Amino acid sequence: MARTLLWLALLCAALAFCTRAAGLRLELTHVDAKQNCSTEERMRRATERTHRRLASMGEASAPVHWAESQYIAEYLIGDPPQQAEAIIDTGSNLIWTQCSTCQPAGCFSQNLSFYDPSRSRTARPVACNDTACALGSETRCARDNKACAVLTAYGAGVIGGVLGTEAFTFQPQSENVSLAFGCIAATRLTPGSLDGASGIIGLGRGNLSLVSQLGDNKFSYCLTPYFSQSTNTSRLFVGASAGLSSGGAPATSVPFLKNPDVDPFSTFYYLPLTGITVGDAKLAVPEAAFDLRQVATGLWAGTLIDSGSPFTSLVDVAYQALRDELVQQLGASIVPPPAGAEGLDLCAAVAHGDVGKLVPPLVLHFGSGGGDVAVPPENYWGPVDDSTACMVVFSSGGPNSTLPMNETTIIGNYMQQDMHLLYDLEKGMLSFQPADCSSM
Ligand SMILES: *[C@@H]1O[C@H](CO)[C@@H](O)[C@H](O)[C@H]1NC(C)=O
Ligand SMILES: *[C@@H]1O[C@H](CO)[C@@H](O)[C@H](O)[C@H]1NC(C)=O
Ligand SMILES: *[C@@H]1O[C@H](CO)[C@@H](O)[C@H](O)[C@H]1NC(C)=O
Ligand SMILES: *[C@@H]1O[C@H](CO)[C@@H](O)[C@H](O)[C@H]1NC(C)=O
Ligand SMILES: *[C@@H]1O[C@H](CO)[C@@H](O)[C@H](O)[C@H]1NC(C)=O
Ligand SMILES: *[C@@H]1O[C@H](CO)[C@@H](O)[C@H](O)[C@H]1NC(C)=O
Ligand SMILES: *[C@@H]1O[C@H](CO)[C@@H](O)[C@H](O)[C@H]1NC(C)=O
Ligand SMILES: *[C@@H]1O[C@H](CO)[C@@H](O)[C@H](O)[C@H]1NC(C)=O
Repeated sequence: MARTLLWLALLCAALAFCTRAAGLRLELTHVDAKQNCSTEERMRRATERTHRRLASMGEASAPVHWAESQYIAEYLIGDPPQQAEAIIDTGSNLIWTQCSTCQPAGCFSQNLSFYDPSRSRTARPVACNDTACALGSETRCARDNKACAVLTAYGAGVIGGVLGTEAFTFQPQSENVSLAFGCIAATRLTPGSLDGASGIIGLGRGNLSLVSQLGDNKFSYCLTPYFSQSTNTSRLFVGASAGLSSGGAPATSVPFLKNPDVDPFSTFYYLPLTGITVGDAKLAVPEAAFDLRQVATGLWAGTLIDSGSPFTSLVDVAYQALRDELVQQLGASIVPPPAGAEGLDLCAAVAHGDVGKLVPPLVLHFGSGGGDVAVPPENYWGPVDDSTACMVVFSSGGPNSTLPMNETTIIGNYMQQDMHLLYDLEKGMLSFQPADCSSM
């Protein structure tokens, strides 16, 4: 809290915009929503993304917390405004967009033009000796008279550029906020990581995230289902507009675990997961498998929630227990993965993608006073063709996965569909409320 206030005071001194009484509202679209894909086609695309993501995990020294099956926020940057699109990522901090300063082949192609700071009246570089350059592990100051450098490693690679400030406008509101962001000139990431977006908006715990920069202590979002035919967008609310739907379904609250004071792991929202029930069967997995713990010097494993990871990955012992239990419960309905879905491990004959009639729900059990969160079948199984659905939960283990990734459980965005999630940073609480996100 003290840190946040300090940063807010800094921002207000440096910048003019501290008057957002109503908080920010952002509309989110799923990356596939712009295309007229069939359900099967969307599933195939999402699975391909997960395979590329899991492949890239092998090189990871930290969780690969964002990849390719993503919810995207559209926003405007600069004056006159230029359009940009960002992946919404609770697993990282920095706000960044690829810039016109990219060398040829130095960045990914994106659907919109690169942001060009020279065409904006409000673009300001951040100097190396500026306080903003000392706020996060994402920035570096080589020498006082240099620009503040941005150099950040993700599981999928690294990005580099300079820190600047700009006017950001998040529609539907018309007012703008000034934010520090990375104007990125080189992206060395697994190909396809951005999937046409121009960058990322980080919502992590670090000083440079959107929520920290705004000096806010809460945000909420509600993600419309991947396979919804509705064109209604998902929503992210930051600040005063964040909150659960009044009159909605009962919510379950879970405390965040106090993060170890170790960078970069202070970015993540760790949760006290203690166990999983599938149908009526509690999986026989030791609670310790999900605990937040140091697994090697400076490397932390645990359970975290991440809007920037598409699918959930469980520590291998939990994954195997879940798989074994479902094999028993689904019995004769189990079929081999159909052509094109070979990477999926557990599939069943389900007419018209109606997994709810066959697959049991999951319950996530949380400790430290947290409640139980029910996960409907549609939030962990997906249709792959007219007559088959497959589980889209993966093992975080595997031959190419190393510490701390292979001992970390990540609750991905597929499992968060049609739930309103409120991150209350002041109370240190995450609330889950079942909701119809298309009608928000
Ligand atoms: C989407 O595709 C379906 C069938 O492929 C077609 O009937 C429909 O008109 C298309 N919608 C749009 C908006 O292109
Ligand atoms: C593991 O890495 C090796 C070498 O990079 C690669 O050939 C193999 O396909 C990878 N396996 C998986 C499951 O990703
Ligand atoms: C940002 O807001 C300020 C103050 O309301 C306004 O003067 C300026 O024109 C706005 N800039 C953009 C790009 O909307
Ligand atoms: C956040 O900013 C404060 C100064 O405002 C600094 O002391 C602290 O180290 C920063 N946190 C990180 C993770 O860099
Ligand atoms: C940063 O360095 C420049 C030149 O080296 C100096 O003029 C300026 O006052 C310094 N700014 C701060 C905030 O220390
Ligand atoms: C970019 O365009 C491609 C092709 O139309 C589409 O598949 C992708 O979802 C788009 N990405 C974003 C971020 O809008
Ligand atoms: C995780 O990977 C490390 C090597 O990085 C290995 O020693 C450890 O046994 C693995 N843990 C699991 C649960 O697979
Ligand atoms: C889309 O949103 C509008 C306005 O909130 C709502 O009336 C409509 O029912 C929504 N459509 C779906 C399919 O939920």
